[in-house]
Amino acid sequence: ASDGRVERIASTIRVIPDFPKPGILFQDITTLLLDPQAFRDTTDLFVERYKDKGITVVAGVEARGFIFGPPIALAIGAKFVPIRKPKKLPGEVISEEYSLEYGTDKIEMHVGAVQPNDRVVIVDDLIATGGTLSAAAKLIERVGAEVVECACVIELPELKGRDKLGNRPVFVLVQAE
Ligand code: PRP
Repeated sequence: ASDGRVERIASTIRVIPDFPKPGILFQDITTLLLDPQAFRDTTDLFVERYKDKGITVVAGVEARGFIFGPPIALAIGAKFVPIRKPKKLPGEVISEEYSLEYGTDKIEMHVGAVQPNDRVVIVDDLIATGGTLSAAAKLIERVGAEVVECACVIELPELKGRDKLGNRPVFVLVQAE
């Protein structure tokens, strides 16, 4: 039961036209963070969903998965693992490339951060094309761990990002127009 919390969360997300380029409607979660109750409700809804599911790792995707992931990890007693843009992590990494509208991008994870027996929830602020989350899921599966679910605050359903994730479950709080 989300009892009005999702509506409050949705109302705090600011939409900025033409950012970062013309035609893009940017979903800005910084205004959600300015409302402590909405921020609390956001993490609570994820914690309520994952607390009794044997989750051992919350993996957060740079940059905004680093905002929502850690409070969830602390509350459910899981490890937090950052999945980062290239050349940011200092230790040995595995990396996964994914395609963008023009060109490719890459994300990386530390070797040893996730173990084969881990049960992982991947957290980010937003799923658009699903490219980022599917690359993150591949990193986790490459080390033999299980992606239990991908969790996002916002989904842009028109971009059909779920298709890119195949059978992996995706849970979102707010559907953007
Ligand atoms: C945004 C968003 C997700 C990703 C979703 O990050 O925070 O990580 O795009 O898009 P996708 O589903 O099409 O892959 P962004 O690329 O803006 O990077 P940043 O968080 O480092 O600013």
